[in-house]
Amino acid sequence: MSDHNNHKEEQHGKKPGTKREMSRRQFLSYTLGGAGGFMGAGIIIPMIRFAVDPVLQKQSASDWVKVVEESKITNVPQAFTFQVHQVDGWYESDAELVAWISKDSGGKLFALNPTCKHLGCTVNWNDNPAYKDQYFCPCHGAHYTQDGKNLAVAPKPLDEYTTKVENGFVYVGQLHANTRV
Ligand code: FES
Repeated sequence: MSDHNNHKEEQHGKKPGTKREMSRRQFLSYTLGGAGGFMGAGIIIPMIRFAVDPVLQKQSASDWVKVVEESKITNVPQAFTFQVHQVDGWYESDAELVAWISKDSGGKLFALNPTCKHLGCTVNWNDNPAYKDQYFCPCHGAHYTQDGKNLAVAPKPLDEYTTKVENGFVYVGQLHANTRV
């Protein structure tokens, strides 16, 4: 019936291009659609929040892991393994990670993550005679300097762990983009 009225209005006096009024059917569909969407959001948003919440929680700043005695660190990179407790959503596990730790020419200690920045294989120090004193990735040939600077294939330098020395031991903390290169 409203369509019929609208048709009549268009015939009597409505100029083309003037603003059309909303029909009762449109009004009802907008109102009910809006109310339905609002109620749906009220149900869905808490569900998403429940699923995602642990992921959004900030990792504790005190996540330092004791790795090795400082006296063992030399100018030549060495791989050291350490355990971290990981929380992935609602799942908790202990993972074994590796850091390549060495000192630079100024005696400053630093630790690199061996995950290749190309596609995520694992790099090793001095693993290829063609790239002496470099990190090398066996998957597609990426290689890096001792500081982790990417020389070929990989688009970025190796990531670096935050480190500190306390009571003669090296600790590693959060992983971050390489600040040395
Ligand atoms: S993953 Fe290391 S070179 Fe491709």
